[in-house]
Amino acid sequence: MNRKIIVLDTTLRDGEQVPGAKLNVHQKIEFAQQLKRLHVDIIEAGFPASSAGDFQAVQEIVRNVGDTVSITALARAVQSDIDAVYESIKLAQNPLIHIVLGTSNIHVEKKFNRSKDAVMQMGVDAVKYAKTLLPQVQYSTEDASRSEFEYLWKTIESVVKAGATIINVPDTVGYAVPDEFGELIRKINERLKNLNEKVILSVHCHNDLGLATANTLSAIKNGAEKVECTINGLGERAGNTSLEEVVMGIRVRENHYHCTTQINTKELFKTSRLLTHLTGLDVQVNKAITGENAFAHSSGIHQDGLLKDKQVYEIMSPEEVGADSMELILTARSGRHAFKNAVEKMGFDTSDAEDFEGLFQKFLALADAKKEVYDHDVFYLVNNHRSLEE
Ligand code: KIV
Ligand code: ZN
Repeated sequence: MNRKIIVLDTTLRDGEQVPGAKLNVHQKIEFAQQLKRLHVDIIEAGFPASSAGDFQAVQEIVRNVGDTVSITALARAVQSDIDAVYESIKLAQNPLIHIVLGTSNIHVEKKFNRSKDAVMQMGVDAVKYAKTLLPQVQYSTEDASRSEFEYLWKTIESVVKAGATIINVPDTVGYAVPDEFGELIRKINERLKNLNEKVILSVHCHNDLGLATANTLSAIKNGAEKVECTINGLGERAGNTSLEEVVMGIRVRENHYHCTTQINTKELFKTSRLLTHLTGLDVQVNKAITGENAFAHSSGIHQDGLLKDKQVYEIMSPEEVGADSMELILTARSGRHAFKNAVEKMGFDTSDAEDFEGLFQKFLALADAKKEVYDHDVFYLVNNHRSLEE
């Protein structure tokens, strides 16, 4: 049977850290409602200790969607942060406290200037304190992919014994590569199983080397049960793992991953466009799944193949992700088949081969001059051609 992967969306926390992507509380609620329609399992709603506005936004998200979607928010490993998270999410049906603390030498030495044991103890104390407030606690070992493995494991083992119910392994600076990250997850998973505690293993990747989706999929292959993502891959620097890419990767290659998610994929495109509208940050045109050109075909060879059978050049249908149906862009490289299809779609007859060839030559001349030929150009071309013939 296929494993179900839990999807946490952190667009409203990690995604919102992007310069220029600040949303007001009404926009956050609107986006959270769309995440509910998308059927994400968990929404990370913010970082309540960071400001009164963030605290209030998390509370409002809980009020609006916290009856059906699990809500979490971020805390550093200090009591005041954990209290702020608890107070902001406590009315949700399924609240989860998320604690983060670094495990790499760089974090331990440069950020905390304490011994490794002292930093680990901070994490353990934070988890123990959070458990006095709520049963569900996630612990993120920040910068895990650059951490020394035995210290990382010792930290994980200690916080699990202290009561952490989810262990989240972040590739904080997007340094990992897929085979290595997959191996890290496999090793942690194996040791977690030997602990015999009920813990969910989660991953959180960044895209600095353009590998966030690949690393996340590799982690799934090696036992990760939960993934943290953002819509459009929004996030600091090169962004976070793109939710739509991971979800469709698992779905299109189900025979490889043997997993499912509960995401309503038909809402993906709408969610992407809502985020673009709210933040003013556009998606690159060739972005997988949600880019403007993700389902547009302009080469004549491809257009001919697609008109014979969509599966020739399409691995998923645009309808599956809620995008407009396949778009054939007419250019000078479009062949007769695509042009004929466009002419017939407008209700014109193409049965006279000689007439059609004359029309096609005019189309090629226009496409050379104009680069892209739109429906209204085709309409004008046919009408003009036919009136000259009469
Ligand atoms: O990138 C990161 O390490 C984070 C943690 C808070 C999970 O965002
Ligand atoms: Zn992050």
